[in-house]
Amino acid sequence: MNGLKLLSTGRALPRQAFSNDSMRQFVDTSDEWIASRTGINQRYFCGEDESTTSLAIDAARMALERSGMAPDDIGCVLVATSSGEYAMPSTACLVHAALGLPEDIPAMDVGAACAGFLFAMEAARGLLVTSGRRCALIIGAEQMSSVLDMSDRNTCVLFGDGAGAAIFELVPDAEYTSIQGVRGSDAIRVGGPCRAQKMAMDGQAVFRFAVSALPQCVNDLLQKASMTTDDVDWVICHQANVRIIDSSIRRLKMPDEKFYKNLDRYANTSAASIPIVLDEMNEKGLLKPNQRIILVGFGAGLTWAGAMLRI
Ligand code: UT7
Repeated sequence: MNGLKLLSTGRALPRQAFSNDSMRQFVDTSDEWIASRTGINQRYFCGEDESTTSLAIDAARMALERSGMAPDDIGCVLVATSSGEYAMPSTACLVHAALGLPEDIPAMDVGAACAGFLFAMEAARGLLVTSGRRCALIIGAEQMSSVLDMSDRNTCVLFGDGAGAAIFELVPDAEYTSIQGVRGSDAIRVGGPCRAQKMAMDGQAVFRFAVSALPQCVNDLLQKASMTTDDVDWVICHQANVRIIDSSIRRLKMPDEKFYKNLDRYANTSAASIPIVLDEMNEKGLLKPNQRIILVGFGAGLTWAGAMLRI
């Protein structure tokens, strides 16, 4: 089966971090509430000269340089985002221009919220089959601060801005398993008439969905590939709330050490969280050749998706 092989990663964060205490300038909250309910200690928000576009370009440039590939090796550019700077052009087209990628390739945004990076990986597998080029540039990039209601303490403390990027190569006969799905719901929404409304969320409904979807995704991937949790080196999941991850660890009866967590420093960066984790792990030398990793995303839609691959 055609599978994706991870070649390189990159990430970009805004310059300014906001501690939990600093969120008190916007809403009635506390470090104690945020840290104990979510595991978040700080998040980054874009300044005037930063955006989904600039973060996506910086992360993508880093991943492309590290891959050793030429722009002409890239067969598609997909940006998973729910907070693109423009309704059009897509963020992907702006990345395409900034990196000088070949004209005869598709570049588009993927709207699947926090599962967007995984949906984009699946789309890239299909696009690369007909492209004649080897690699996909896949980015998760979000300026969540542009869609947050900074007077709503139920949501504004939970999210952050950032971008992660990866270059994947399509490899015939690679070990690769993937699943995707949707439980249609507007439990998290942004937009409405004239795209005017900021985020609204039924936090507890989303929490209930997440604590079932994450472990189910891992189990379904393992069952599809006839493997067990012992065969897996890392589970890299969407970073929404440490209680969601810890509950899944208990349900799966897996060792805590196989789950990488960094939401304490970035909060929930939606589609960017998985590639940001990948890049941090790469930087620390935690991702080693031949390891088997599981990626799981879940979020607004309600969407869920997973992939298991050897790196
Ligand atoms: O990518 C997916 C994106 N979404 C998510 O991951 C969200 C999933 N849901 C969650 O993570 C949790 O449901 C939350 C973190 C959103 C909320 O945690 P909770 O334990 O379900 O709290 P709650 O909604 O039951 O709220 C408890 C209390 C409420 O006060 P009352 O009504 O009990 O007096 C809230 O008003 O906490 C209050 N509260 C806050 N207090 C201080 C809500 N937000 C805050 C806040 N600071 N920021």
